[in-house]
Order: sequence, then C-alpha cells, then structure tokens
Amino acid sequence: MIEEILSLVRKHEEWRGRKCLNLIPSENVMSHAVRGLLSSELAHRYTARGRFYMGTRFIDDIEQCGEEIAKEVFGAETADLRPLSGHIADLIFIASFAKPNDVVMCVSPEDGGYPGMWKDGLAGLFSLRAVPFPFSKHDMNIRVEEAKEAIRRVKPKIVIFGASLITFPYPVKELAEVAHENGARVGFDGSHVMGLIAGEHFQDPLKEGASALFGSTHKTLFGPQGGIILADREHGEIMKAKIYPTFVDNAHWNRIAALTLALAEMKKFGNAYADQVISNAKTLARALYDHGFPVRCQHLGFTQSHQVLLDYGGFELGRVIAEKLQDANIIVDCVVRIGTCEVTRCGMKEREMMEIAELVKRTVMDNEPPENVKKDVARLCADFQKIEYCFEN
Ligand SMILES: Cc1ncc(COP(=O)(O)O)c(C=O)c1O
Repeated sequence: MIEEILSLVRKHEEWRGRKCLNLIPSENVMSHAVRGLLSSELAHRYTARGRFYMGTRFIDDIEQCGEEIAKEVFGAETADLRPLSGHIADLIFIASFAKPNDVVMCVSPEDGGYPGMWKDGLAGLFSLRAVPFPFSKHDMNIRVEEAKEAIRRVKPKIVIFGASLITFPYPVKELAEVAHENGARVGFDGSHVMGLIAGEHFQDPLKEGASALFGSTHKTLFGPQGGIILADREHGEIMKAKIYPTFVDNAHWNRIAALTLALAEMKKFGNAYADQVISNAKTLARALYDHGFPVRCQHLGFTQSHQVLLDYGGFELGRVIAEKLQDANIIVDCVVRIGTCEVTRCGMKEREMMEIAELVKRTVMDNEPPENVKKDVARLCADFQKIEYCFEN
C-alpha cells in the first residue's frame, strides 16, 4: 500500500506536472514558495476563537497579515481567508443573507452558471427559490433591461453575479442599483476571475455595486485550493461573525499562509499576469477560430477573460473531443472550455498560443495519431517548466 500510494502520486506528478498541456480554466499552479508553505508546520495546528488552544501566537499574526494584503489587493474594507473552498464561500454569503423561501437570482447552469449554486446545490439546501437572470447565450451575458424588469417583479433577496462559464464582465453597475432599490443584497462569485480582478484586468465588482466578492483562490488567482470573501464593512462583519463556529471550525493555516504569499505575488505581478492571460486567451481563440473550431462570441472578440468556449452543443460531443485531446496529453473539460491561466503562469505567450491551437487542430481536426502529437506537447511543456510572476525569478 505504501509503495502504491507513493507511486501513484509520482506518476501523476510526472504526467500532469511535466508532460501535459493543462488548459482547464479552474486550475493553476502555485509558485514553489507558496506550495512549500502548504507543507509547513502550520499544517498540523488548531486554533479557535476565544484562544481555546494555546500555541497560536504566530498564527494570529498570519491571519492579520493575510487579511491586510487581501484588502489591499482587492480594494475591500474586509477580507476573510478562512472559507475552505469557493463553494463554502458561496454558502457563507447565501446563508448569511437569505432564509427559506427567499428568491436568489443568479446565472442558470444552462447558461454557464455554477451548478453548486442552483437547485441541486445551495439554493436547494437552504430552500431558496432560484430564479435565473434573463440571459443571452449569443452574447454570453445577462440581458440588462429584461433583468431589471425581472428584479422588480420577483424581488430577489440576493442577486449573485459570476459563473463557471465567464468570458465577459457582467453588468453589475447597470443592475446593482435596481437590485438594492428592490431590497436585494448583491454578491459576485468571482471564483473564476479572482486573479483577473486582483490584476485589475476585469471588472471591479466591489466598486460597481456588489457588497461582497467571494469564491475560489486557485483558478485565475494562483493560490492554494481554497476560498476567500472580500466585502464592504457592513456585509463583511455580518459574515465574519458567522464563519466560526457555523461554517468553519479549524481554519487551515498552512493554506492561509500560502494564500497570503500568493496574494503578495498578485500584488506585485498580478497586473502583468492578468494582461497576459487575457491576451493569450484572445490569441488562442482567434487561432482556433481560424482553424475552423466553433469558438463562441466571435462577434464580441471571443473573450475578455481566461476562458475560450467551444460550442459542441453539450457534454456528449464535448466529452468525445476532451477525451481525444487527453489522449494527446492536452487537458480540457467536457464543456469544452479552454483556459489560459496555467499556461500563462508557466510563461507561455502569444507564439505558444498559436502552437497550442495547431496541436489541438492536429488532434481534433486532422485526427493525427495522439502518439505523434504527444511528442510535440511534451517538447512544448519541457520549455515551460519554470513558474513566472513570482518572487523566485
Ligand atoms: C463560479 C464557481 N463558483 C464556485 C465554484 C466552487 O469552487 P471550489 O471548487 O473552490 O469549491 C466553482 C467551481 O469551479 C465555480 O465555477
């Protein structure tokens, strides 16, 4: 058993870490320093409010440090790094501001919204009525005028922007006022675009009228897997008062220390990183489109985020494409959504995006044997093993 588990992890590291082109937009890589903190002594320790456990004198300062830099990076009045994942951050916002039978308005999973927010997920768990934003699949965005009407009509208690398929900023500025006038709290699930917001290359939900920004810390934000909540003072303090003991008992301090360091990297390098992520996504989208791939939103320049969306009409054909690509060590999901955050973190630029588009074309369009393509994928990956946008360089 010991040999088996060690060997499985080694094989995974060798394959996904060295030989694969990782194009899943929900994933990223940490710098060595951030990753190192995950296995620090902190990983063994407990804390609790009210100083129940002794031995926490440095951990208290770590929490303070993390919150300070998070507030600075996101321009927020309050920050909390304790949520164990993006899903838990969503849960904390929803549970803090809605009660059974209230309406939550968000992007439907059919339109790329996060399924965990919907009826089988948090809305169901809290007996909320989930009402979708009126949405244009053509533009991959909320229809503003119809949404205003819908908000006036259904009077949601909470309105949540953000989604799993997110290529363009959402009309927070246009809708927040109507939402507030009709008694709603406004949140933004920035799980996917947190690193682009931190790098000031996406919309800024907290300045546009959202009271809270929350989600994952490991997609475009290149921290360890986990969650974060940024908010104005009023909403932040309400949530802070509930996190312990309702939603998180022991926070994971190794992760919080690692996230703090990742936020410091973001502060220094985030602007250049986010700019390159988006530029890479646009280049990749254009190149794939020119090869004849069904890239969505050509009329809008394809994307303004880290995601490039291919339209295969659902998971069934999407899975066939994704499996074919996996045979060539090109890793995407079954939507098919292609993300440029990880390859950008590894230093790839526009030239490599053209190369990736070519590798995808050879695999999917030309049906070249995957063994052939794999060799070129490995060659490309071998040149980009160093992690950029961090202090180590
Ligand atoms: C929009 C959105 N919110 C929340 C989550 C859940 O995040 P986590 O995996 O960090 O719990 C996801 C997952 O990918 C997501 O896409």
